[in-house]
This record gives sequence, structure tokens and C-alpha cells, in this order.
Amino acid sequence: MIKYENVGMRYGQNVILKDITLTINNGELFVLVGPSGKTTLLRMINRLTAPTAGNVYLNEKCVKDYDLRELRLHMGYVLQSSSLFPNLTVGENIAIQLEQQGVNKNDRRKRAIELLDQVGLPASDFIDRHPDELSGGQQQRVAIARSMATQPQLILMDESFSALDPVLRAQQQDLLLNLHRQSRTTVVFVTHDMQEALRLGDRIAVINEGQLQQVGTPNEILEQPANQFVADFFATARPRLGTMTALLSSKLVQKTSATDQSVAVATVAELASLTPDAAGWLYFQYQGQDYRIQTTDLLHYLGHREDR
Ligand SMILES: Nc1ncnc2c1ncn2[C@@H]1O[C@H](COP(=O)(O)OP(=O)(O)OP(=O)(O)O)[C@@H](O)[C@H]1O
Ligand SMILES: [Mg+2]
Repeated sequence: MIKYENVGMRYGQNVILKDITLTINNGELFVLVGPSGKTTLLRMINRLTAPTAGNVYLNEKCVKDYDLRELRLHMGYVLQSSSLFPNLTVGENIAIQLEQQGVNKNDRRKRAIELLDQVGLPASDFIDRHPDELSGGQQQRVAIARSMATQPQLILMDESFSALDPVLRAQQQDLLLNLHRQSRTTVVFVTHDMQEALRLGDRIAVINEGQLQQVGTPNEILEQPANQFVADFFATARPRLGTMTALLSSKLVQKTSATDQSVAVATVAELASLTPDAAGWLYFQYQGQDYRIQTTDLLHYLGHREDR
């Protein structure tokens, strides 16, 4: 568990963060958004930045009381550009922290193979390549694999997918969601992309002018924005497709009993991404209830929203 307690940050006269109190639970995929201060907040967890007021706790212990090496050993950190070591192979990059831990060469390679497999890169093809022989998306996958090598309890991700084109970006988001579902590692994810925040976040924290505006599930943020700032901030992500509540009350949607075709969705954007081209019923689940909608009706509804 990560806890920010009355955290403040200033550089000279410049106040960056004011009185932030926030808890991130174990196993959460927690997203930080807002115009400014996100990276600063994230880096307080691995102590790359020290707050000028208040404290940050990891598992009830103040991060400044940890041995720095020990603190970071159990955290992965994935930046916007992959930051792999160019002179090391993919396998060596992934295993570098294991080497520091004294894990032998054979076991390191085994673990690298396992991790490459998890991030969808066949080890036989990739393990001995160098980073400059990989595409940006592949490098980012290796960076994610590296961040998981020591089975950290926590992974910090700062705009990790922002440099990727939309298709690759969506793939990496899927990858992260799958890995997170399997491992239940706590992930703190910084992004300036609202769609990404809504898609990934179990909960989202919105920061503006140094202050915490709201913490909530994607649904809460969309349906009950705490103030005008939050509403406006997500407006670009929202009005185009509307909220689930609006869609469900549109009479196009019918409740059904559970089917094995239903895919759980949290937002209209996610539902839209399921849309097949063919006509017919699209089954989905929202907050534990099963529904169906005619694909043509959904497309019509979405098209109508996009006109506005
Ligand atoms: N070492 C520093 N010295 C002075 N000011 C700093 C320092 N680091 C960050 N800042 C300032 O703190 C503010 C918040 O920076 P931060 O990197 O946390 O924002 P961010 O939300 O990550 O922004 P972005 O979306 O651009 O990455 C910025 O105004 C930045 O200029
Ligand atoms: Mg930043």
C-alpha cells in the first residue's frame, strides 16, 4: 500500500503540489492524470524526488526510512522511452536486476525467456538481439518485461505508451491489463491521455494546480465529476461517446440473463471497441449485469454522438 500524507512540493517559490493525501491499495492499477505534477508524485515513491512537505509511505513505512537499494529493488520503473541499455542484449537487459541480486546466468536466462513469453515476444527470436534491432513497441515490451524481472510488488509507469502509435498503444494497454489481471501487482501509471486513463485505471486521481481534485473509478469520474475542472478535463474523452448511464437509459439496450458471450466493459469506449461489423446482438456486462444491444443500433448511437 502506498500512502501520500499531506504531501507538498515546491521548487523555490514555485508550488508544484499542495497537501496531497491519497492511498493506493495493493493490487490496484492506479492512474495519475492532470496538467502538472504527475511525474513528481510518481518519483516520490521510488525516491527520485523527495517531498518538501509531508511523507510518502510504502507498506506503512516512510520511504525515506528504507535502504534505497532495497526500496528500488522491489519496484519496476518504466519510462516513456524504453531506456534499455544499448550495449546489452534483450536477455541481459531483462535480467540486469537479477544479476545484481546474484542470480546465476542459467536462471537469469530462464527467467528472461519466461518474461519475453509473457510480453508476447518469442524468446528464440528476441533474446539475443540488441535494442536497436527492435521496433519502439518491442523495446517497450522488453522494458515492461525488465520491470517485472524481480517480481516486484509495485511497478511505476510514466507515460510508458505515449511514444507509440495508436495501434501499438492499444496493444500495450491490453498487455498491461492482462499482466495486471494475472499478477495483481500494484501499478501506478501516469498518463496525459484521458482515454488511456479511463481504459486502464481501477481508480484515477486527478491533480490540478497542485491539488488533488478527485479520486475515483473511471465511472465515478465520468458520471460524478467532483468539480468543473474534472468535468472539463475529461470532456474530450467523454461527450463523444457519452456515459454508460446515458447509453443504458437510451432504450436501445436490453437486460439479459448471463451469457458466455458477454464481455465486461466499464465505458462506452470499451463497448465501442467490441463492435463487430456484422449486424446482430452484441452482448456485454456492465457492473455485474448482462445486457445486449443491436450492433446497428450501437453504431447508429455512436455515429450520432460523434456528430455533436
Ligand atoms: N528539478 C526541478 N526543478 C524545478 N522545477 C521542477 C523540477 N522538476 C519539475 N519541476 C516543475 O514541476 C512541475 C511539475 O512537473 P512534473 O514533471 O511533475 O509534471 P508532469 O505532470 O509530469 O508533466 P508532463 O505531463 O509534462 O510530464 C513543472 O512545472 C516542472 O517545471
Ligand atoms: Mg511527466
